[in-house]
Amino acid sequence: AKDPVRVLVTGAAGQIGYALVPMIARGVMLGPDQPVILHMLDIPPAAESLNGVKMELVDAAFPLLKGVVATTDVVEACTGVNIAVMVGGFPRKEGMERKDVMSKNVSIYKSQASALEKHAAANCKVLVVANPANTNALILKEYAPSIPEKNISCLTRLDHNRALGQISERLKVQVSDVKNVIIWGNHSSTQLNGEFISTVQQRGAAIIKARKLSSALSAASAACDHIRDWVLGTPQGTFVSMGVYSDGSYNVPAGLIYSFPVTTANGEWKIVQGLSIDEFSRKKLDATAEELSEEKNLAYSCLS
Ligand code: NAI
Repeated sequence: AKDPVRVLVTGAAGQIGYALVPMIARGVMLGPDQPVILHMLDIPPAAESLNGVKMELVDAAFPLLKGVVATTDVVEACTGVNIAVMVGGFPRKEGMERKDVMSKNVSIYKSQASALEKHAAANCKVLVVANPANTNALILKEYAPSIPEKNISCLTRLDHNRALGQISERLKVQVSDVKNVIIWGNHSSTQLNGEFISTVQQRGAAIIKARKLSSALSAASAACDHIRDWVLGTPQGTFVSMGVYSDGSYNVPAGLIYSFPVTTANGEWKIVQGLSIDEFSRKKLDATAEELSEEKNLAYSCLS
């Protein structure tokens, strides 16, 4: 039997956390033959609720789940983890701009980066979900210098999957028959897509309006898709969107965490090269890069 993989979920008592941990424990993230040990972190006001989630994980009797660490201690949470899914933070509420939540998240990501740096397993893979995800990932990279930059990513797969879903609805084809959409840059108001830009862009707000709660199920599912493809590889001929450290591909400034089309194999992603970018897309790519550069500057100003 395989050794268990330790998976950290921060903000595990939150909405996405509640949807995500059972998916991980059921093998949705790492496959049906991969045992897991869940590490769940939240803050002291959520400790009781976190313990409730732990009780439910016990009650669900997941065969793959070999242990649960539920804690408010960041060092205990990060110790030995192979995969870290960073969901904890201050979520954006209806009507709130991403920038408003920046300052609080910068300090959270700085301290959690230090804990991962010192205590995570070698070659730990990190996925930042909490917004502003690209910039939180950049702060994390900065304060966890021993974690290779190729191991630090952010989630744009939810938008990617939303785009697949919209295309399948519009064309009345199965979603499994649609592939290779691309989310460039980030998850925000300058996000790029095609003719259906506004639907995908405003989908999160539409779900909050309908549910009075954020889109936790689809976000959790997208986080599983992101890690599964990263660890187990993308199918031949398929690429997916991942927020990764820019190497300057497609003239995106190096040093930003930016969403690109990638393929993955042997646990490593590679940016798909040579796609042609039309004038409309070029403008959007640049606008997103500009936004992320400003966000980066703002984040760094919060650090000092
Ligand atoms: P939530 O508010 O239900 O949960 C957040 C949890 O994080 C809470 O339990 C809170 O106590 C915890 N938390 C706060 N500070 C923490 C810290 N320092 N350490 C550990 N835990 C901490 O929010 P929800 O709906 O689960 O969303 C979580 C994040 O995911 C938000 O930032 C949201 O904007 C983001 N998000 C990102 C998406 C993407 O596509 N990248 C999609 C959907 C949500």
